[in-house]
Amino acid sequence: MKPRIIAVVNHKGGVGKTTTTLNLGKALSLLKKKVLIVDTDPQANLSQSVGVEEPSKNIYHALVEGERLPIEQVAKGLHLVPADLDLSGAEVKLITEVNGYFKLRNALNTVAKNYDYILIDCPPSLGILTANAMIAANEVLIVVQSQYLAIKGLDTIIELIEELRQNLNPALGLMGLLLTQVNRTVVSRTIVEKVQTEYGDAAFQTVIRQNVAIVESSTHRMDIFSYDKECAAAHDYLNLAKEIVNG
Ligand SMILES: Nc1ncnc2c1ncn2[C@@H]1O[C@H](COP(=O)(O)OP(=O)(O)OP(=O)(O)O)[C@@H](O)[C@H]1O
Ligand SMILES: [Mg+2]
Repeated sequence: MKPRIIAVVNHKGGVGKTTTTLNLGKALSLLKKKVLIVDTDPQANLSQSVGVEEPSKNIYHALVEGERLPIEQVAKGLHLVPADLDLSGAEVKLITEVNGYFKLRNALNTVAKNYDYILIDCPPSLGILTANAMIAANEVLIVVQSQYLAIKGLDTIIELIEELRQNLNPALGLMGLLLTQVNRTVVSRTIVEKVQTEYGDAAFQTVIRQNVAIVESSTHRMDIFSYDKECAAAHDYLNLAKEIVNG
């Protein structure tokens, strides 16, 4: 069976991409799906968030040096392709290669059949690493932090999806906009309403609430379910996984 390959994107930093990749990935694995999470960010936050530091091989070796994609098991049904700081050198190298935009797609080709879901955590830019993710993917999940100016820039990503679909990856589509760090403030409520009216069905029904347990779990290098499976964010990410699985 072909997996659903989802690029988790926003060129705005600190909106919740890595948190979503980890916790949605874990939630899908709890629903008995086989899940691969892929770290394409030179900051390597996704890898660090599951306690993988300075892995002997990381995604750089597959993208730039043509080696096999390194994969580590991090939990039952949950595997990781780690990144490391040396990935920051990949962009200049990939940009000069003829098929530099297709490296991740090619690297995933041989392992994709082993998974139901592949989630790709992207860096906060729309550079060649994010492009690699969006070309390897068939769906894009845009993370939107429910704060002032959050909507600025969303159309840029939607236009990029369209451009890639027309030129390089006909299979690509917008999976949805995920509102995160939602709270009871007027600003947050206004953003949620605005996204739901302006983007309609493109927004997921499930929103992720702001929850201090997320911050705590990441300092403990844990996913939210291992940290506190009863907290608000764990409920939200599980509901999101169910929304995605049930279509
Ligand atoms: N629902 C939430 N409630 C509270 N804090 C959150 C929530 N989601 C994310 N955070 C916190 O916000 C910060 C940024 O989250 P995260 O690292 O996932 O963003 P990012 O988009 O991956 O950032 P970058 O662009 O740097 O890769 C982290 O400290 C994280 O713990
Ligand atoms: Mg991140």
